[in-house]
Amino acid sequence: MAGRSVVVGVGHYLPERVVPNSEFEKTLDTTDEWIRTRSGIERRHFAADDETTSDLATKAAEAALADAGLEADDIDAIILATSTADLTFPSAATMVQARLGMTKGFAFDVQAVCAGFVFALSNANALIVSGQAKRVLVIGAETFSRIMDWTDRSTCVLFGDGAGALVLEAQDGAGTAQDRGILATDLNSDGRYRDLLYVDGGVSTQSTGHLRMQGNQVFRHAVEKLAKTAETALSHVGLSSADVDWIVPHQANIRIIQGTAKKMGLPMENVVVTVQDHGNTSAASIPLALSVGKERGQIKPGDLIVTEAIGGGLAWGAVVLRW
Ligand code: UT7
Repeated sequence: MAGRSVVVGVGHYLPERVVPNSEFEKTLDTTDEWIRTRSGIERRHFAADDETTSDLATKAAEAALADAGLEADDIDAIILATSTADLTFPSAATMVQARLGMTKGFAFDVQAVCAGFVFALSNANALIVSGQAKRVLVIGAETFSRIMDWTDRSTCVLFGDGAGALVLEAQDGAGTAQDRGILATDLNSDGRYRDLLYVDGGVSTQSTGHLRMQGNQVFRHAVEKLAKTAETALSHVGLSSADVDWIVPHQANIRIIQGTAKKMGLPMENVVVTVQDHGNTSAASIPLALSVGKERGQIKPGDLIVTEAIGGGLAWGAVVLRW
């Protein structure tokens, strides 16, 4: 017997405003053609001026709770992965806790940028497996439109806003790789790569700042590190790429997604792809893709899924789970 963290609900929310690539042609020296061919992105959603990360997160959380058939007070903990919280403090997670009407348990944010959801899932799994929580709501939510430099064509065309959420529940498994739930995780970071992807501001430097990225350098690290972390996580439970039904990758660039699948020896038919519709939504991209993948009828109970992500830090990792 082994304690497992099993997904019992999933949901997402995207802001109403959809921005096609052609919008950027009006203000920047760029084209729809360049954005599509270099990144795979066709459109993205941007939050309204009065819409914050905790608003998006609350809607995604409500959808995941409804999918699970649970109420807020059935949840013991909320972990919210974000780099774009509403306020310096309190955490966006506690704001969501209040908005859901959840009066017990605890809530906190996790900040690992685009790898945030993988880090949050791993933390939620640790809480459940160690008996500290029975049900954990794990959310990824971002408003990256708030940290774009709208004059920098190499970054501002790539990102979008959105939120996705999962409900994880403690269930008994046999202790084998056939169990449902989270089977393995692999987390990494290397702070020496800070300058490749960062925001040039923050509380202690007294500004909000804008996202700065050496895209082609991050690209190089991504293709090399993502397949490796996915394969490492799979190897922890005696599995390999051949066992995987779905790669649900961080959605930053279709060429990174294709390169990683190729390195893992899997065809694109085994990959959930949403980057064309969402752009890069940082910590929200994996739960968004899980929710959309389920809606499309791609992800089914019993499927073996590997999620993988890399972002600022650099921080990267993977989670293997059976749906
Ligand atoms: O989620 C966190 C992790 N982030 C990522 O994974 C992003 C990783 N990086 C990427 O996705 C890609 O590197 C980009 C999409 C950002 C860029 O693609 P690239 O093939 O690596 O292009 P590049 O940066 O090497 O730039 C090629 C050219 C440059 O022009 P020159 O110097 O060759 O004349 C850029 O100035 O493309 C130019 N360029 C653009 N041209 C038209 C950069 N942005 C644009 C643009 N429109 N929006």
